[in-house]
Amino acid sequence: MNEMRDHIEFEYGGENIALPLTTGTEDETAIEIGTLRNTTGLVTLDIGYKNTASTTSAITFIDGDKGILRYRGYSIETLAEKARFLEVAYLLIFGELPTADQLLKFEQLYRQYTLLDEGLKKLLDAFPSAAHPMDMLSALTAAWAAFDPQPLDVADAEQLCRSAAKILAGFPILTSWIYRKKCGLPLNYADAELHYAANVMQLMFRVPTARYERDPVLTAALDKLLILHADHEQNCSTTAVRVVGSSRAGLLASISAGVSALLGPLHGGANQFVVEMLQAIKADGGDIEKYLDKAKDKADPFRLMGFGHRVYKNFDPRAKIIKGYADDVLEKLGVDDPILDIAKKLESAALADDYFVSRKIFPNVDFYSGIIYRALGIPVEMFTVMFALGRLPGWIAQWLEMRKDEQPVSRPRQVYTGHTQRDFVPLDQR
Ligand code: ACO
Repeated sequence: MNEMRDHIEFEYGGENIALPLTTGTEDETAIEIGTLRNTTGLVTLDIGYKNTASTTSAITFIDGDKGILRYRGYSIETLAEKARFLEVAYLLIFGELPTADQLLKFEQLYRQYTLLDEGLKKLLDAFPSAAHPMDMLSALTAAWAAFDPQPLDVADAEQLCRSAAKILAGFPILTSWIYRKKCGLPLNYADAELHYAANVMQLMFRVPTARYERDPVLTAALDKLLILHADHEQNCSTTAVRVVGSSRAGLLASISAGVSALLGPLHGGANQFVVEMLQAIKADGGDIEKYLDKAKDKADPFRLMGFGHRVYKNFDPRAKIIKGYADDVLEKLGVDDPILDIAKKLESAALADDYFVSRKIFPNVDFYSGIIYRALGIPVEMFTVMFALGRLPGWIAQWLEMRKDEQPVSRPRQVYTGHTQRDFVPLDQR
């Protein structure tokens, strides 16, 4: 195969085949294979998309080797330190940081949508008490679309702004209803005057019989967590959102698919499993080595939850920031969480172990986020729901980009490995 500046050439079936190269703004180069099948009859095979860019995108940049994550060019470290969640949501969805005036207008719009259709409560009532909050969230998000069936015109900036504000305002209410329903608490309504994270906290924890005291430390920590989760380019749930949306399915239907993709333990569901794993290690006498051995044993399905990442092969910048917050939040709250000690010991033991080092397996975003959620009083079952709440702007932004770029319907090819044609055998002869 010869590599030229703007294309590569190779010989196949006696023909010289040229495929164009495309280079992104951060110098990532891809081979465009769109014409490959027509010219050669070949398809590419990349199970799990380990080596395939499914789209071009101008939203989020990750350099997994250097541990870089940027939204629209701004580093995650700066955004987590200096911006608020709604500002970051605006940045992701509309491409630029809002001016003070733009943010004010967006917040005013968001405040108009701090009520949800009461009909959704009937659906909430229908779930069994054992339902997992993520299953409920996925179903309720899809149902929400039915309460608001107007198709969204992506060329209409005003409509886009309204839809984004409406979804960002409604999702915290939906998530709090799920939590409160499961706890048997009366359902709460939004406080439109509060900032995003403060509203989320009051939606979840305010009860009618007591004065609700807002804790600025907790609210700030939640705001940071939401920012750190806000987008992560073409991960499993975002890809699900884009794939579903590519059939021109609506935004909420696509987001519902994203929620379903997020709930799996190899993706967002890991944050719940991390804390459960740390609790199990503690209950088992805190024997870190035993669990490292289990994770290394190929015959044992156990994996160190919160470790490893498809893209980050050095460190996950979000994990680094969250680890700092975890220390901070617990110290400010005066909480002495034994789970944090286990987490730290596990991290240093894994980082000194050749199995993990040689495979470039480091703590990911989920490793420390659960410790903060615990300190905020959020039950383990709700952790992935909190992740979904944070990821919402990313899903909206990626769906919009896909639609504005007029991407064709996602329909991959396959390499068939089943039977070739067979003769049908009647039932009485089988
Ligand atoms: N514990 C033990 N071994 C691991 C782990 C782990 N957490 N992660 C990867 N490995 C090993 C694999 O067994 C494999 O070993 P081998 O080469 O000897 O066969 C090697 O490292 C590569 O692993 P893959 O699964 O091929 O890597 P992939 O990129 O497909 O998976 C994933 C990434 C799914 C995140 C994986 O690391 C994992 O399962 N982690 C635990 C679950 C988790 O924390 N998920 C959250 C991810 S972050 C997010 O989605 C927000």
